[in-house]
Amino acid sequence: MTNPKSLSHESGNLLIFKKTINMRTKKHFETAAIRTQSKRSHFGEHATPMYLTSSFIFDDAEDMRASFAEEKEKNLYSRFSNPNTTEFVDKIVEMEGAESGYAFATGMAAIFSTFGALLSSGDHIVSARSVFGSTHTLFTKYLPKWNIETTYFKVNEVDKIEGLIQPNTKILYAETPTNPAVDILDLELLGKIAKKHNLLLIIDNCFATPYLQKPIEYGADVVVHSATKLLDGQGRVLGGVAVGKKELIREIYLFSRNTGPALSPFNAWVLSKSLETLAIRVEKHCENALKVAEYLESNEKVNWVKYPFLKSHPQYKVAKKQMKLGGNIVAFEIKGGIEAGRKFLNHIEMCSLSANLGDTRTIVTHPASTTHSKLSEKDRFEVSITDGLVRISVGLEHIEDIVNDLKQALKA
Ligand SMILES: Cc1ncc(COP(=O)(O)O)c(C=O)c1O
Repeated sequence: MTNPKSLSHESGNLLIFKKTINMRTKKHFETAAIRTQSKRSHFGEHATPMYLTSSFIFDDAEDMRASFAEEKEKNLYSRFSNPNTTEFVDKIVEMEGAESGYAFATGMAAIFSTFGALLSSGDHIVSARSVFGSTHTLFTKYLPKWNIETTYFKVNEVDKIEGLIQPNTKILYAETPTNPAVDILDLELLGKIAKKHNLLLIIDNCFATPYLQKPIEYGADVVVHSATKLLDGQGRVLGGVAVGKKELIREIYLFSRNTGPALSPFNAWVLSKSLETLAIRVEKHCENALKVAEYLESNEKVNWVKYPFLKSHPQYKVAKKQMKLGGNIVAFEIKGGIEAGRKFLNHIEMCSLSANLGDTRTIVTHPASTTHSKLSEKDRFEVSITDGLVRISVGLEHIEDIVNDLKQALKA
C-alpha cells in the first residue's frame, strides 16, 4: 500500500535520491520511472533488491501495537504492503498524477476490488459497452448477485450517457482505447458528465499506459490497469494496479487487505524494473504500430484499418487531443469474414498467436473465431467486432520483419 494517509513520497519506504535529482524541480516521467526507488539497505545496493518476505518484524510490543494501529508507517505483512509493491505503486502514482494506489495480482483483481470497495448493494454503474470480456462478465454475471446493475452505452452514442444515469448511479466506467476494436472514448466529456452528476469516474488505462494518456487530468477518480500488458511489456508476469484519490484508494486498500488479491513482491519487483523502460518501449511500440497501420491501409485484402492516430479513425480528433501517440494496438478487417481471418492466422510465420497483448513480441488474434466466438453476431457487432476483425498487438521486432510477416500471410 502506498502510504494511503500521507502523500509524501519522501517518507516511509521510499526515498527519491536527492543526490541525483533536485527535488525542487518537477520530475519528468522517465526520471520518476527510474528514480522512484525504495530506500537503500545498509549494503548500499544500486538497484532495488527483492523483498521476498511474507511478514516483517517489530522491535517490541509497543512498536507492534503502534504499527498495527497505523500510528507508524511500517510494513506488517505482505498482503498489506511490501517494499517492492510500494515501489511499483509509487511509480504508477507518480506517472498517473494520482494521490495514492494499491497493487494487485492481476488487472481483473484491480477492477473487481475497486468495484467491491466502492459499491454497495443497490448501486448502479453506467459503462461503455466495449469493455474487456471479463469486466463484461463481472457486470452481467457477478455484480448483479449483490444487486449492482450496469447499463451500457455504445462508444458512438456518448450523447446518450446522461439519459442512462439513475438516482442510484454511482460509477461511470470506460476503457479507452477499447479492447479489441481500439475505439476511443472522450475523457474530457466523461469527466464533465461525472462531475455534473456527482459520479465516480473510473478508467481502465491499460491500452494507453500513463505515458500516452493521463485520465486523472480529465477528472478520473480512479485509474485501473492490467500491469500484465505494456507495463510489464515482456509477457512475463501478471499484475494490476488501481491509483487515484486518497480517500477512495483507502477504501480499496482496506477491502483488498482483507480479501487478499495482493500482488506478489516478486512480480512487483519485475514490474518496477519494467517501468524504468516504459517510455522508451512505448515510443517504439507506437512508431511500429503506426507503420503497420499505414501498411495495412494500403493492402487490397483489407477492408478498413482502425488505429487511433490514423486520420481515418472515427475518433481521430479525440485521440489526438488526449493521447501522446496512438498506442500499440491496430485493428483491421480482412476481406472474406471469419474464414479469411482464420486463414490469415494459419499463415502467420513469425508473429505469435496468443491471448496476451503489449509484449515485445507481435501478437495477432482473430476475436470472432476465438475470444468472442460465443457472442451472437449482433452482440459482437455492438462492440465493433466484425467477422473479419484482426487485432494486432505490435511488438518491438524490426518493423520490416513484422510487415513482411503480415504481407505474406495476407497474400496466402
Ligand atoms: C483492457 C483490459 N483490462 C483488464 C484486463 C485484465 O487484466 P489481467 O489479465 O491482468 O487480469 C485486460 C486483459 O487483457 C485488458 O485488456
